[in-house]
Amino acid sequence: MAKCSICGRDAVAYIRYQRRYLCREHYIEFVENKVRRSIKRYKLLSKGSKVLVSVSGGKDSAALLMALSRLSKEYQLKLYALHINLGIGEYSEKSLRASTEAAKMLRIPLIILNVKDLIGYTIPELARRLRRPVCSVCGLVKRYLINAVAVELGADAVALGHNADDLAVYSMKSFITQDLEYLDKLGPKTENIQGIAVGRIRPLYEVYEKESFLYAFLLGVPFIHDECPHVNHESLEQILKVKLNEVEEKKPGMKIMMLRNMAKRIRDLPRREYRVQSCRYCGLLSSTEVCSFCRMTARIHGEPLGPIVRSRVRELVKESESRQLSSAAG
Ligand code: AMP
Ligand code: FES
Ligand code: ZN
Ligand code: ZN
Repeated sequence: MAKCSICGRDAVAYIRYQRRYLCREHYIEFVENKVRRSIKRYKLLSKGSKVLVSVSGGKDSAALLMALSRLSKEYQLKLYALHINLGIGEYSEKSLRASTEAAKMLRIPLIILNVKDLIGYTIPELARRLRRPVCSVCGLVKRYLINAVAVELGADAVALGHNADDLAVYSMKSFITQDLEYLDKLGPKTENIQGIAVGRIRPLYEVYEKESFLYAFLLGVPFIHDECPHVNHESLEQILKVKLNEVEEKKPGMKIMMLRNMAKRIRDLPRREYRVQSCRYCGLLSSTEVCSFCRMTARIHGEPLGPIVRSRVRELVKESESRQLSSAAG
């Protein structure tokens, strides 16, 4: 059996781009050091930050929640977790269970939103009614709800679980389609806009998919192995994923090099010129007078649901905060 290049104990992994073997303890330290380095290099967090960790129930969310929980003392973080139940059959049921178990294990307060309760329809039902692809409706609803919770919570940042493989694929896609303005949104962080949008951070920016899987597995955080049934394996993203893995195989470390260089250049990229404004109905971030969530829900219900959803989110956040206070007092 191969031995750890640092301490000589049995190795659990070989890091190709560093040509070294690592044991369980050194592997965990290796992943956490990557997260620490990204926090410093990209100025993701400051001491005492209140962070909303958005968790899907998958391996990356599990790794993210665990890593931030283990670093929370060092950075004096106040962590909250959020899970959105999308109503995608068994997949969503399992995701909810895993997210709940992970948050419970790490004693992080979890806010749960249910799309069907908030909007009246599950994500697939909404997509059918709107005659739009499931993933695009899902992305719109998730972005809106995550931001709504973060604003209500007064969070300093929302942590997302995108890993280096995801981000390399999205960046490559933006380059191929020449949607260069989108690259600006794929960096390690986006900025806060006072009162209407909370900035997003990506602590796993330099962590590979395989690494987040093994990290979550070694630390025993519950996560689901299933992928969303709506993933389209013929999509450009999936094709690029396979191709970029082939390149990475021949050039280990290529994706991280690409992402690091991109993060340096992000300020120079072309930006879509739009006025940042707050939606006239719900008050959250919008590029036009009415935000896309209010527009979408108005098409279905005849009235924009942003204001109702926001007040329900406010109640749920308050409940979660008072549960926190009573458990701290007890
Ligand atoms: P995706 O949009 O599926 O690529 O996921 C990107 C990130 O969004 C994940 O790493 C999570 O941080 C967050 N996320 C995805 N799905 C959910 C969900 N159902 N509830 C809460 N956060 C989610
Ligand atoms: Fe949103 Fe699959 S997770 S459509
Ligand atoms: Zn070791
Ligand atoms: Zn709105």
